Amino acid sequence: MVKVITYGTYDLLHQGHINLLRRAKELGDYLIVGVTSDSFDRGRGKLNVRNNVLERVEAVKATGYADEVIIEDYLGQKIDDIQKYDVDIFAIGSDWEGKFDYLNEYCKVVYLSRTEGISSTMLREESQVNYRVGIVGSGRIANRFVPESKVVNGAEVTAVMNPDANKTEAFAQMHGLKAYNDYDQFLQNVDLVYVASPHLTHYDYVKNALLADKHVLCEIPFVLSKEQALELFTLAEERNLVLLEASKTAFCPAFGHIVTLVKSGIIGDVVDVKASLSKQVLPPTRELDSTQAGGAMNEHAPLCLLAIMKLLGLDWHDMNFHSRMENGVDIYTKGVINYPHATASFTLGIGVKTEGNLVVSGTKGYIYVPAPWWLTDFFEVRYEDQTKNKKYFYSYDGEGLRYEIQEWLSMIVNERKICYKLRPQESVAIAEVIEKFKNHDNVTEI
Ligand code: CTP
Repeated sequence: MVKVITYGTYDLLHQGHINLLRRAKELGDYLIVGVTSDSFDRGRGKLNVRNNVLERVEAVKATGYADEVIIEDYLGQKIDDIQKYDVDIFAIGSDWEGKFDYLNEYCKVVYLSRTEGISSTMLREESQVNYRVGIVGSGRIANRFVPESKVVNGAEVTAVMNPDANKTEAFAQMHGLKAYNDYDQFLQNVDLVYVASPHLTHYDYVKNALLADKHVLCEIPFVLSKEQALELFTLAEERNLVLLEASKTAFCPAFGHIVTLVKSGIIGDVVDVKASLSKQVLPPTRELDSTQAGGAMNEHAPLCLLAIMKLLGLDWHDMNFHSRMENGVDIYTKGVINYPHATASFTLGIGVKTEGNLVVSGTKGYIYVPAPWWLTDFFEVRYEDQTKNKKYFYSYDGEGLRYEIQEWLSMIVNERKICYKLRPQESVAIAEVIEKFKNHDNVTEI
């Protein structure tokens, strides 16, 4: 029996895929089709795939050519599969000519002629609505957002809004955007709003954007009180709009895998989560300005709290904070959050330097994510018996904002109001912790 194997994403299955599968099947007696997993595609920079892996597998099965469908989930898997399934022929479209010659060592490699004039990319582009994105604010993060948005299909940044005319003009010129100093006018000329303005302005900008029926992505810290967070998510729900907190780590491939590995019990019961983040800054800067909601908590707590809440949930029973204050802002805060059967802590600095790693300790082992853990592209699962340790590597492309932009757009296009990677109740809980600190609830100065 001649066994043939082929691989692909098979998004929006089209005639080119069908022809390829038919030709591959004709090469032998048994055809195995490897369909890429969602995380594998995202990891290799293919961010715009429309159908999820289950839909794509079903579409391939429906062609009737595949005798077996497998999932391709890691780089180098083709060599493993060819040996594992005792494959005779590896077949792939001619757009890959030469790229898989290295597999000749394991089986025969055949490049099949590609069907001209059709591809998933073409179909995605044809059916694509191109949303006009407006950015509120023109600071550092807004500057990074523009190039990051270009790698994601379906949206184009067209406008920037800042009440300070000079800043808006300079930013607009640099990125080729239209500048606005009036929020109402800005809202009339965009479809989606990314809020990257100073912390204390988030609430009003988000609320007014929602009232103008715009989907919103809001930078961290989303808002600084539980009540405001609840109000905004309720408003978004009532108006059938997507509101997402731009907590970038939540959407990057490696962090998502840490959460699923922990939930699957790989380190046993989680007993402790320790997350740290410090970035030292020098005056004058808004991070050190108490009138602009500066301070280590407001700057850095959202990402550490995200890790704690994704791993331990929202049912904590108490928390306390230890802070070093300077000129009205916390330059360092250590927080401890206690759960019925676990404890968590975070250390945050803007005037104190700490090691910025994440350690998740369990009854069987622990996960170590080196600094800077919030830009996660590598982590290790470690055990008492070190021979069982396992390292995981991922890509973290560009500035990492592309993952949250992709998620936001995918929610809008697919009319999905909730994202499991960061649920509204988790954003509300993060705002609640920040508010407790602001209210000096269990805060000790050191
Ligand atoms: N293929 C083909 N003819 C086409 C499109 C794809 O023969 N017009 C083949 C590819 O060469 C590959 C398989 O179909 O062997 C699956 O490819 P995939 O990457 O899923 O398809 P594309 O349509 O090229 O997708 P994209 O545009 O996302 O790259």
